[in-house]
Amino acid sequence: MASLTVLLLTGGCKREPDAAAARVPSLPEVAPDALRPLEAFSAIPDRKARSQALFLEASRVFFHPRCANCHPAGESPLQGDDGQLHDPPVVRGPEDQGVVGMECTSCHQDRNQELTRVPGAPKWHIAPIEMAWVGKSPREVCEQLKDMKRNGGKTPEQMIEHNAHDELVAWGWNPGSGRTPAPGTQAQFGAIVRAWVETGAECPSEEVRP
Ligand code: HEC
Ligand code: HEC
Repeated sequence: MASLTVLLLTGGCKREPDAAAARVPSLPEVAPDALRPLEAFSAIPDRKARSQALFLEASRVFFHPRCANCHPAGESPLQGDDGQLHDPPVVRGPEDQGVVGMECTSCHQDRNQELTRVPGAPKWHIAPIEMAWVGKSPREVCEQLKDMKRNGGKTPEQMIEHNAHDELVAWGWNPGSGRTPAPGTQAQFGAIVRAWVETGAECPSEEVRP
């Protein structure tokens, strides 16, 4: 977290630090399995810097393996906390649902199957390639989430709604079989995404990482 603080303080750019960014207070430390409370961000006076910090907090969920494994950049979903290729080998297929005889839902049911370790949620399938996050920076993911050509045609309100209530997103906090859940709760995450939109949906600068 120290690096985030430094980059926020310096504005993350080579020019002399601008005055607003220089006043950004450091955010409180947070456990890896928690999200910072919204109040922590109201301490950032500059609206743009606050919005950027909110997106970086949300990025701790977007880039979490429970989400990123299903938002890969290639043909195959990933698995585990270190993003290994899906075993057994499967591919996204023409409609992101696998291929005939090897559809995602031939193994993945609408709920987790503890005996076989197969995770599940309704309509389990891989995120379309234009929604890939693996290998991208928070700024790139931020830009694509705002781009209706790449986000499934979602308005900002629908984007909030998807993050706060979608069932595949919800699985990230109920992954079964001892998998590490995404940090915080889905309700907290939805509130952070809402606050990010309401502060202008600003994207962090390219080099900043959560
Ligand atoms: C089982 C696979 C799967 C998992 C797990 C998953 N997603 Fe997705 N995600 C998808 C699919 C498929 C879509 C596209 C369908 C849609 O837009 O409704 C999508 C779309 C999205 C979008 C919409 C737009 C965009 O530009 O990417 C967001 C936001 C999103 N997911 C967030 C998350 C978050 C946050 C998590 C983890 C807490 C997560 N997803 C976990 C499959 C998954
Ligand atoms: C032949 C059965 C089978 C098929 C088909 C299949 N999966 Fe899986 N998948 C599994 C099993 C089993 C696991 C659990 C592996 C483990 O954790 O031990 C798994 C795990 C996953 C995970 C990892 C969750 C995590 O974060 O660790 C994702 C994501 C996933 N599958 C997505 C998909 C998608 C998307 C498809 C279709 C393109 C698909 N799977 C097709 C059997 C299958």
